[in-house]
Amino acid sequence: MSHDFPAYRGEMEYCCLGCGKRYPGDSLLYTCPECGDVLLLENTRFGELKEHGGAYWRELFDRRASTRSNALRGVFRYYELLAPILDEEDICYLGEGITPVIEAAPALSAKVGVPFAYKNDGQNPSASFKDRGMACAFSYLKWLCRRQQWDEVLTVCASTGDTSAAAALYASYIGAPLKSVVLLPHGKVTPQQLSQPLGSGATVLELPGVFDDCMKVVEILAEKYRVALLNSKNAWRILGQESFAYEVAQWYGWDVSKLCIFVPVGNAGNITAIMSGFLKMHELGIVEALPRIFGVQSEHADPVYRYYSAPEGSREWKPVQVQPSVAQAAMIGNPVSFPRVRALASRFVKAAGEKAFQVVQVKEQQIMDAMIQANRHGHIACTQGGECLAGLMNARDLGLVGAGEHAVLDSTAHALKFSGFQSMYFENAFPPAYGITPDTALANRPELLLPEEARQGKDVMEFAREGAKAVVARLGLVEK
Ligand code: F0G
Repeated sequence: MSHDFPAYRGEMEYCCLGCGKRYPGDSLLYTCPECGDVLLLENTRFGELKEHGGAYWRELFDRRASTRSNALRGVFRYYELLAPILDEEDICYLGEGITPVIEAAPALSAKVGVPFAYKNDGQNPSASFKDRGMACAFSYLKWLCRRQQWDEVLTVCASTGDTSAAAALYASYIGAPLKSVVLLPHGKVTPQQLSQPLGSGATVLELPGVFDDCMKVVEILAEKYRVALLNSKNAWRILGQESFAYEVAQWYGWDVSKLCIFVPVGNAGNITAIMSGFLKMHELGIVEALPRIFGVQSEHADPVYRYYSAPEGSREWKPVQVQPSVAQAAMIGNPVSFPRVRALASRFVKAAGEKAFQVVQVKEQQIMDAMIQANRHGHIACTQGGECLAGLMNARDLGLVGAGEHAVLDSTAHALKFSGFQSMYFENAFPPAYGITPDTALANRPELLLPEEARQGKDVMEFAREGAKAVVARLGLVEK
């Protein structure tokens, strides 16, 4: 027990976004038993947190930044705002959260014409933002297993690659009674992402089709069988992912009034969580004004963009059939969390005006060009991070970002997970369905300076001299 673990406890209830019915938070529930709609979790004792002013929370969270308590080192720095029913022993910390905000390289910023920063969520333990949500969902599972004395729990998820990597990681760390099963669309997950649940020892199952198909299968499993669903339909995941918003606010000195947050939208859990987090801070007076939120979608998987591009009053929700996308992790045509986005976006707009929530669409070409540009300027953006930058550029061109505003782009995963798309760019090897023509000036390849045989039969120095000569010739180096 560390002495700084909070004594405060709230009470969590699932709240249905369709019919408004509420259910106690001490069992696993993913959809409303009454109407089938998605749920969010609410602390029924949230009002008690309001008894302190915003300054109290700002100071507390600032102080906690130097904690030595494992339980409070990561996303649970914001314990009271996340899942304040958990005990210290339940909290699973694997180094998630508190990811760096990196201001754009000056040359890139100048090119884009808008000051911006990347928040590098690829610097989480499984190299994506999913760890934020998993830390919370798995800590809750530990709490639940302890209370229920379960001796075996199968955790399941469908995934475009990152959810499965994160779920398998946390399950393998905790061990019994948890066992991880992941369900992947065959051939639609990068080799690096696939290696992650394999390495963690999860049961990796594949089906033909796309993510949306796997998601449906997992929904059937969660409804009819004794399994714990770890997709963002699991509302405990959303709570953990709210930490992104808390960290952004804290990093910018609790003033987010001039920020435009760009978020790639796939299953729509992340944008849900980020909006929810900012709204909570606003309600508690931790931030005085809300930032603006920009969802970004590829033209190959853009149901949320299509919905919001229609004028209010004539909007109609329609899932889309996805086309191949380099933002493959967000290649989702029927996002499970769409009803949450709709509910939270309308609260956002009510609190901060019509322009506080928008969705922009980007082309596949723009996503790839932006990712390559970002990484050539010292960033580690994944394709979804490229999607955010492309979104910022389109928002700028459409006049949606004003002077004096500062953008924060969510680079949701590490560039390395998507290096295959970088290779396709450099080698001009995109299948036609992506519709991407690389800028050949940016192609980069390794150059073999000497043939394999050149090393044979020589001692180290002899070979080094030959190697150096080859480098000098290639670079045209001048002796000093
Ligand atoms: N970026 C990355 C790197 C992702 O892995 C995902 C989603 C998204 C963006 C979109 O976020 O779904 O919250 O809107 N990946 C999920 C998965 C679907 O299975 O790994 P979202």
